[in-house]
Amino acid sequence: MTEKLEMYRCEICGNLVQVILSGAGELVCCGQPMKQVVANNIEEVSLEKHVPVFRKKDNNGLEIQVGTQLHPMDDDHYIMFIETISEDRKHLYLEYLHPGQEAKIELQRQIGKEKALAFCNLHGLWEGEND
Ligand SMILES: [Fe+2]
Repeated sequence: MTEKLEMYRCEICGNLVQVILSGAGELVCCGQPMKQVVANNIEEVSLEKHVPVFRKKDNNGLEIQVGTQLHPMDDDHYIMFIETISEDRKHLYLEYLHPGQEAKIELQRQIGKEKALAFCNLHGLWEGEND
């Protein structure tokens, strides 16, 4: 049984999927069950470089940056995407990022209280909330 908006990863090929609508079945890839990806809180990995932080912009928009100290965006270590999910889970926004860019995105408008997910190619999924 899957839950809406959960993420699952194949440990063999690296496929990463997100559930749009939940179902009773188990997700399988490369012949084995996919593993659910949950947000990290690993002490050994620097939280200040991974937890998404929200900042209000003058134009009523919202900036989400990864880490209070901006996460690196090197070829071998970078944030692959940032996703925001509204509190009522009716709205999501996902933006892919690439090495050389800054580890941040801008939303034109805010849709209620949101949470943000950031995915680091080395350190996995991280979650931050807008207060
Ligand atoms: Fe990282």
